[in-house]
Amino acid sequence: MVNIEIDGKIYSVPEGDNLLQACLSLGLDLPYFCWHPAMGSVGACRQCALIQYEDNPNPEVGDSHEQRGRIVMGCMTPISEGMRISVNDPRAEGFRGQVIEYLMTNHPHDCPVCEEGGECHLQDMTLMSSHTERRYQGKKRTHRNQYLGPFINHEMNRCIACYRCQRYYQDYAGGHDLQAMAAHNHVYFGRHEDGVLESEFSGNLVEVCPTGVFTDKTLSEHYSRKWDLQAAPSVCVHCALGCNTSPGERYGELRRIVNRYHGQVNGYFLCDRGRFGYDFVNGQDRLNHALKIQPSEQGERLETEHLHTELSRNETRDQLSVLIAADKRLLGIGSPRATLEANFALRELVGAANFYTGMSVQEADLHQLALNILLKAPVRIPTLKEVEQADAVLVLGEDVLNTSPRLALSLRQTAANIGKTIAEKLRVPLWQDAAIREARQDQKTPVYLATLSSTGIDDIAAETFKGTPEAIARLGAAIAHAIDPAAPAVDGLDENTAALIQRIVDTLKAASKPLVISGTGCFSPAVMQAAANIAQALANCASDEQGGRNECTDLYLCVPESNSMGMAMLHEETAQGGSLQAALQRVESGDVDTVVVLENDLYRRAARNEIERLFNSQAQLIVVDHHLHELAAQADLILPAGTFAETEGTVVSSEGRAQRHFAVHISKDDIRASWEWLSDMIALRKGSGQPAWQHVDEVTQDCAKTVVALQDIVDAAPGDDFRISGQKINRQPHRYSGRTAMNADVNVCEPKQPEDADSALAFTMEGYAVAKPGARPAAVTPSYWSPGWNSNQSVGKFQQEMNGPLEGGDPGVRLIEPAAEPVREWFKLPDKPPPASDGQWLLLPQQLIFASEELSAKSPPVMARSPVSCVLLHPDDAASLSVDNGDGVVIGCADRTVHLEVKIDLHSPAGSVAVPVGLLQTAGLVYLQRVQVKKDPDWQRRSESGVFATDQGERS
Ligand code: SF4
Ligand code: SF4
Ligand code: FES
Repeated sequence: MVNIEIDGKIYSVPEGDNLLQACLSLGLDLPYFCWHPAMGSVGACRQCALIQYEDNPNPEVGDSHEQRGRIVMGCMTPISEGMRISVNDPRAEGFRGQVIEYLMTNHPHDCPVCEEGGECHLQDMTLMSSHTERRYQGKKRTHRNQYLGPFINHEMNRCIACYRCQRYYQDYAGGHDLQAMAAHNHVYFGRHEDGVLESEFSGNLVEVCPTGVFTDKTLSEHYSRKWDLQAAPSVCVHCALGCNTSPGERYGELRRIVNRYHGQVNGYFLCDRGRFGYDFVNGQDRLNHALKIQPSEQGERLETEHLHTELSRNETRDQLSVLIAADKRLLGIGSPRATLEANFALRELVGAANFYTGMSVQEADLHQLALNILLKAPVRIPTLKEVEQADAVLVLGEDVLNTSPRLALSLRQTAANIGKTIAEKLRVPLWQDAAIREARQDQKTPVYLATLSSTGIDDIAAETFKGTPEAIARLGAAIAHAIDPAAPAVDGLDENTAALIQRIVDTLKAASKPLVISGTGCFSPAVMQAAANIAQALANCASDEQGGRNECTDLYLCVPESNSMGMAMLHEETAQGGSLQAALQRVESGDVDTVVVLENDLYRRAARNEIERLFNSQAQLIVVDHHLHELAAQADLILPAGTFAETEGTVVSSEGRAQRHFAVHISKDDIRASWEWLSDMIALRKGSGQPAWQHVDEVTQDCAKTVVALQDIVDAAPGDDFRISGQKINRQPHRYSGRTAMNADVNVCEPKQPEDADSALAFTMEGYAVAKPGARPAAVTPSYWSPGWNSNQSVGKFQQEMNGPLEGGDPGVRLIEPAAEPVREWFKLPDKPPPASDGQWLLLPQQLIFASEELSAKSPPVMARSPVSCVLLHPDDAASLSVDNGDGVVIGCADRTVHLEVKIDLHSPAGSVAVPVGLLQTAGLVYLQRVQVKKDPDWQRRSESGVFATDQGERS
């Protein structure tokens, strides 16, 4: 720390910061545009001017040293001991006023119709710089706007040429199709021609741009001002990374998702799946009332159009009383996309011995393996921020961009962090963005990618390896053996692979913070085991170097769904809890009367004919879910559940971090949280007049008490009794407007605001609204605002230091830390599978960011970004099948056929077919099995009609 004087006051600030960063960390107001806490300084906008007084003043000279100084840019000036500066000096204020006046000459004064209005950094900075009157009378420069796809609107006239968008899109996110073009007053930020922005992180432009050039197109569809949006602290449900979000609601409709800063997880950025995948909450297929199935006249339940009867609350209760009566034998099928509370409540209803995870055998085994490695091996799960600090990375088998997107953005920063090492040597400050990039040129921190095919982050890789899961597992096992000869050896490696292994080994061994990444995405236990061997080998080496101290290696294992890790932890303690197939077997054996399925469309998890076994028995089916999916449509009773937007609950991320999401608005109609339905069912079954739990916190506490591995989940967020100065925390901003008029078409009397008994938050603008850092724990802070700071930049007022942890600590609690006594056992490579016989192909998974995840894939803007579903084929294989791009193939497994278009991919392993994960036609496929593939002679007709034949008949 060093001492500096700002406007006559002495402050202690971190050495190495720049003046702007230091002033902001101290809570002072200094305007800025081009500086971004995650991207550093380039000194482009000249807005952060302040006065730096002369050093070594000589008061005897007569002219006061206090007056002598020069204008410097705060973001470009390093701090030094004893420096004296002024933010409020009239010369600095005047300079800043001139800069903003110049920037505003071309800016349209269209705030009343600009979607950024009210949360605009330019508005805030204009006022902060005291520019209130327009003097320039000339014509404004105008631009043509571009179509940029389903996510982003473009309004270039509002640009102030701060270059943040280009720096974010190209330098930070690695995009190639958005540039700064032309020069001077005509500089243009956009694509060379209209078209969909290619980056999977394009949505962050909305928050990076300090004005209204890039705005959220999905919000435009049902626009509302920021101050009219009710918000809640939430966690993204579209993958397992646990990015923090702030969803906004108005009139009972979810209108947008924005980033909620988390210092260790998502920082300032989300992926487009997480930002734009929310519309499933407003979807047409939402269930609002309990429904009872009406079988066809022939009494058939399958392969017929079902009719459903809407049930009143009493009728629902009557139905439930019959289906789950005390003498009924129940079986519960949970879900990795449901909260811990919902899964635990189901387990309590049916009993641990009758609770199943709802994952297929393949999924369940992979999840248990991942958890066992993380719990027992000498490894530690890094946070995403720590991922960005690694100095050598090996990714084994996981296509992270498509399975855990935000992790791919972090890896991009890892690859670039070599610039910081170079900068340190050159004594260049770490925030000097342009200088560091210049010094770095094309050098990268080594990231090695071993994947099934080409991926969207291959450009950051030092080297890539493409192969089947078996080849990747062999590569990994050989790396482990080369690091620690005690690890099982691998023979038969070719010369090139052996040389590559040596380069990877040398790099990992030389690194001080090596990182290994793998996961369930390529469906191979052997790949994860090889990753565990490498991590253990590195840990052993480090332990030897440290004289036998117990060292561990950073290992990140990706899992697919928002609560996959939580489900694995719950399952581990549920000795009987098993796979979906085990559940189906139980049902078929006839010792089950009623099956309760929680938030899980089982048709996505296993082959159709397997799921239909559910209906071969006499068992009745209750489905608790928020959508009328295929399984729900066949249930005897469907109970409408709340989504993340209407309920509270805890999920555990792939980092092992338990986090709580809170309802953004109250549920409509008969929608209730899944745990509430299950709580009532427990009461009905017991014949008790009282539900098992009244509040979600009680379920959380019972879960924590019952499941040892989850005992800390109660610390994920403050409970429902948390108050500040006796008050709850308001979800609606204090400027929320129209509350008295919103329902005027129904009743001119303002209704009582709904109460929330389940959390410390209130569905109202009344509450603890004082913008005082540290007052509201981050886990229950819906959004950030501070006087004069209406944009997302206000979060800086709530960080311990700029870009650092939030006041009071970042949300969530880590449940998995390195084992005190790690198990140092090696995984052995499985025996080589027999060579494929003629006509047999290896079925590989193809993960797709905009199609493979169930909920986001229901959102129209994400659907619009979903690629045509294709099977990837190596060119030689395509030739042997006599197919070309655009032709079709028929893939035949044991019990079904799948028809898909061909896409030739040079990097696909020969002898394999890579099929998209999570599509209707491919749901339930067992990957890594051998399948038959042949040309589809009827493809032309199928693709024109959109009808695809399967063993179960024709489906659209
Ligand atoms: S479009 Fe926005 S972010 Fe890009 S240069 Fe213009 S004002 Fe800055
Ligand atoms: S990376 Fe995952 S958790 Fe983060 S925003 Fe994207 S989908 Fe959501
Ligand atoms: S923020 Fe300092 S010059 Fe732009």
